[in-house]
Amino acid sequence: MTLSQTSGTWKCAGGLASFMKIRIARQADLVQIVEIYNQAVALKSATADLDPVEPGDRVRWLEEHVPEKYPIYVAEVDGKVVAWCSLSPYRRGRMALRYTAEISYYIHGEYRRMGIGSALVQHATSQCEKLGIKTLLALVLDVNVASTKLLEKLGFARWGHMPKIADFEGRECGHLVYGLRVC
Ligand SMILES: CC(C)(COP(=O)(O)OP(=O)(O)OC[C@H]1O[C@@H](n2cnc3c(N)ncnc32)[C@H](O)[C@@H]1OP(=O)(O)O)[C@@H](O)C(=O)NCCC(=O)NCCS
Repeated sequence: MTLSQTSGTWKCAGGLASFMKIRIARQADLVQIVEIYNQAVALKSATADLDPVEPGDRVRWLEEHVPEKYPIYVAEVDGKVVAWCSLSPYRRGRMALRYTAEISYYIHGEYRRMGIGSALVQHATSQCEKLGIKTLLALVLDVNVASTKLLEKLGFARWGHMPKIADFEGRECGHLVYGLRVC
């Protein structure tokens, strides 16, 4: 499946007669947001969280992501939330870093390799100027090939590597820092 955009709606071509829409997340999306996130937790290579989270754990997180500054976007396909992407403060409160945000993105297991991750990251990037964000950072486990390839395809560059800082029950891996100067 490939995606093409017309006035905010993404048409999915290649077999699925589906339409994807990107919009701001709301509390009612938390069950799907958490389900998608917990799929990534289970991979043990996509996020440093070791245990699944509950929707209730994420209520405050969603509230803190005020759409005017740090939005969370969801991608809906035929009305179902299948992916999300957040822009979060990098080292909250350190004011010299106020124009820098961290981007994170998670796609439902049944909807990967369809261009949805790219569409979400491109959408978030396109909103940065309006949000007052000059630099995007993505912190990626160094074993997460899919994510590093996605970032490189979209122009992010590898700015750093913190070796062996994560430990998945004895299996160590590092964190890569990817960056993009957006405006
Ligand atoms: C990483 C992830 C977000 C990619 O999203 P996606 O919607 O599948 O990605 P896209 O279809 O837009 O693919 C964009 C590019 O990423 C790369 N890519 C995506 N999945 C890949 C995979 N499994 N293996 C290798 N490269 C991959 C490819 O370069 C691809 O371009 P191509 O299709 O032209 O080859 C998705 O696999 C995912 O949600 N993984 C679990 C959560 C996660 O790792 N989040 C990121 C945390 S830092």
